[in-house]
Amino acid sequence: MKLFSVKLRASKDGKHISGAERITPYEKINTVINQLYHRLSRKEFDSINIKIDILKEQPLLVEKTLPVVNLTFKNHIEANKTAVQIIQKQTGLSEEKIKQLIDLIHSGASPDGENMRGAIIVDQKGNRLERDRFRGVRTTHVDYLERDKIIQKLIKKGFTERTADALALTTKNMLCPDIIVEYCISDEPDYLTGYISTKEAYYRLTPLKEKGNKKGGRIYFVKNGADIDEIYRFLEEKPVLIKDVGI
Ligand code: COA
Ligand code: AMP
Repeated sequence: MKLFSVKLRASKDGKHISGAERITPYEKINTVINQLYHRLSRKEFDSINIKIDILKEQPLLVEKTLPVVNLTFKNHIEANKTAVQIIQKQTGLSEEKIKQLIDLIHSGASPDGENMRGAIIVDQKGNRLERDRFRGVRTTHVDYLERDKIIQKLIKKGFTERTADALALTTKNMLCPDIIVEYCISDEPDYLTGYISTKEAYYRLTPLKEKGNKKGGRIYFVKNGADIDEIYRFLEEKPVLIKDVGI
């Protein structure tokens, strides 16, 4: 069956506000555009861009997302201490280096002090590997095989569609052989839950950022000697469809 990537992104005054992607058969393109438009247009925008591309290769079918583990803390400082411990165990990087990278995300990781347009990539020696420090790398071409069913399942368990999207994205990241662990906080000032993913689990940490902070971002920690071209290719181009959620 021919499948298409449908992406919508909204911006205001030249600044990205939000975006989303679906992988869908030809017959459902119209419905998907309407659903995404409905979601994105809730925020004030002056431009919406729609991009539709046929998938050039068959998607990788994945049985399940990472299992979800919820962790709550009294504040973001305590949550970040746990985050540092998990990352330290997985990467062997010093606590100081990990804290420095996390602080960068919380204060605007782009060289202009704004949020990056994608994720930082860093290896186990602490070397930054992304090709462009304003852009980073963006994971795309990932969705659920039967999205509606998955959303219903997550909602019944008290989660939201945002969790579904983040879980799909990070499940794809953890399928990349060179990626060991990921750290993420949203750039929305009121969304305080962040996550850490390892090959084994998706840890949702609440609160991982301070209320009111407009800064956010992702860090992909990779193995030493990682093949950077292959990481970009896999994350940006390899289509992945997930069948079920690990809850
Ligand atoms: N932040 C800032 N700018 C962005 C952006 C983002 N997340 N996504 C797109 N842009 C802007 C950039 O200027 C980009 O140019 P660049 O490649 O030089 O950075 C331009 O739009 C064109 O982007 P495009 O090539 O169409 O983007 P894409 O193929 O990477 O797809 C999205 C963009 C938004 C559809 C994709 O990142 C996506 O699906 N995101 C889903 C996010 C999500 O589900 N997050 C989990 C929720 S917690
Ligand atoms: P979000 O999860 O959409 O709130 O995005 C939080 C941050 O993650 C953004 O500020 C970007 O720095 C980064 N980001 C956004 N989209 C992607 C993506 N598709 N892949 C990797 N990083 C992203």
